[in-house]
Amino acid sequence: MVFVFLLLRLSDHVYEQRLQTAADNFIAAASKLPRVSGCLPPCGFQSSGAEYNCITCQYDSCEFPLDCPVETINVTEGSRSQIRCNETFNISEDVEVIWRFAEEIKTQQVDQFKEVTVGDDRLYSIPSTRLHHQGTYQCELYSAERSIVRLYFYLSVTPRVKVGRSQLQELFDRSLLPRGRFVPEPASAPSSALTLLLLICLTASLLLFLLSLG
Ligand SMILES: *[C@@H]1O[C@H](CO)[C@@H](O)[C@H](O)[C@H]1NC(C)=O
Ligand SMILES: *[C@@H]1O[C@H](CO)[C@@H](O)[C@H](O)[C@H]1NC(C)=O
Ligand SMILES: *[C@@H]1O[C@H](CO)[C@@H](O)[C@H](O)[C@H]1NC(C)=O
Repeated sequence: MVFVFLLLRLSDHVYEQRLQTAADNFIAAASKLPRVSGCLPPCGFQSSGAEYNCITCQYDSCEFPLDCPVETINVTEGSRSQIRCNETFNISEDVEVIWRFAEEIKTQQVDQFKEVTVGDDRLYSIPSTRLHHQGTYQCELYSAERSIVRLYFYLSVTPRVKVGRSQLQELFDRSLLPRGRFVPEPASAPSSALTLLLLICLTASLLLFLLSLG
């Protein structure tokens, strides 16, 4: 009886020791994993910079928000727009990209956006930008079905008319004399001379016609 009891205690002891060894090995391995230094602000779920938390037995991410600040892009109507979903931290190659658009407004409110494309395209390209393209573009990156980061770009489209008008304004300003007087319009002179020439020509042919009637 005593012998059996001793045997049980012994196996208990062996089991405990094995468990302790396994735990020690695990902690040693976990502590060799990359530390928080890999975190790149200001946004995104960054698992590469995650630290193993020995108390919760989980990887803590860098604890940045998913939403990045809005970046403004200025384009002129009719020109090409290119928006790149370029997160700054390192993520795996295997990502899915969802592009969304909120027409006209500058916003980060998720419910304002409509889905445009789903796929692996990191570049959103508009060959000829129109006024209705103005608004906020959001790209959301997913890795293994998990949302990693959301980038925002506000595309501001300057109308062509406005550009033309500002060029006209420049021309007007340049035509002003230093003392604030206008330069005489040189274009009006040749046109009135041409009118006069035409008039003379017409009168002459009319005269000739009347003469020929005799
Ligand atoms: C875009 O235009 C706005 C106003 O015209 C200006 O304040 C801003 O600096 C411009 N942004 C870039 C990135 O050129
Ligand atoms: C990311 O893409 C945006 C829009 O295409 C561009 O304005 C910005 O310079 C890019 N940033 C980097 C770090 O490449
Ligand atoms: C990103 O990861 C790749 C491989 O996973 C590595 O070769 C590269 O150096 C990393 N870049 C940065 C900036 O950490």
